[in-house]
Amino acid sequence: MHINKIMVIGAGQMGSGIAQVAAQAGLEVVLNDIKDEFVRRGLNTITKNLSRDVEKGRKTEEEKRAILARIQPSTDLADAKDVQLVIEAAVENMEIKCDIFRKLDSIAPAGAILATNTSSLPITEIAAVTKRPELVIGMHFMNPVPVMKLVEVIRGLATSNETYQTIEELSKKMGKVPVEVNDFPGFVSNRILLPMINEAIYCVYEGVATPEAIDEVMKLGMNHPMGPLTLADFIGLDTCLAIMEVLHEGLGDSKYRPCPLLRKYVKAGWLGKKSGRGFYVYE
Ligand code: CAA
Repeated sequence: MHINKIMVIGAGQMGSGIAQVAAQAGLEVVLNDIKDEFVRRGLNTITKNLSRDVEKGRKTEEEKRAILARIQPSTDLADAKDVQLVIEAAVENMEIKCDIFRKLDSIAPAGAILATNTSSLPITEIAAVTKRPELVIGMHFMNPVPVMKLVEVIRGLATSNETYQTIEELSKKMGKVPVEVNDFPGFVSNRILLPMINEAIYCVYEGVATPEAIDEVMKLGMNHPMGPLTLADFIGLDTCLAIMEVLHEGLGDSKYRPCPLLRKYVKAGWLGKKSGRGFYVYE
């Protein structure tokens, strides 16, 4: 299937990044969120990223303008009526995602693919609320989207080969490397990454070392670009907790229990970088 116009739902850090790389690949993009101010904030982030590219000589001012011109702001899901693909990057909440997919199923043209950027929720269950489960797929981008090469492409139980191939090709066109995985809790990326982050939080909880020391060990000893606690703050501690809950409930093994300190921070509103405080304090 040929794709030249898409909708991205959610203009936060993931959605705006996805919209940017799609527009850079020459696609027409409708960037949708529930409030105009959220869409504006997403567009500002994209503009800032593109301006940095211009400053560094990676893009011309003309290219920047052309990319931005391909992104149309939207606060109405009905704008999905003429797209060939929707990539949903709204909050990690099953009820909200299912509600969006039910609505999209009645708005998007027959044959349009409905993808979700969920970091751990079951694709098969999201697909089941639509009448087109063969056209539903997971497209899991990594943060920051403009920089990270990976897209985890997740097949639900009913996802067709044609849908998979279309998304694989499109991911490559967007400058990414697609990797195929099946629909299990946390897929591959978060099944491995989040237990490591959770264990780092246990090290703080049990007084094994300070957050700074833990991050230093993993950066200098394992060559990770960011320590696990800096990364947790960057992902968002609420998101980290939500993913641990999915692993714990979905795989039923106590080794995935979220650290009580993680729960406490989230309850306190210490959500990491976005709220100004997590394992570190941000100005
Ligand atoms: N948007 C766009 N570009 C960005 C960016 C952003 N948010 N953040 C950094 N960059 C760019 C910078 O402009 C810079 O580009 P140039 O050197 O070409 O100018 C480049 O990335 C490197 O940035 P910095 O020099 O500022 O810093 P760095 O070398 O530490 O790299 C990083 C930043 C790429 C984020 C690096 O620290 C890193 O790889 N961190 C780990 C990221 C990671 O693990 N992501 C996965 C998170 S998990 C996830 O997303 C899945 C999930 O479901 C939870």
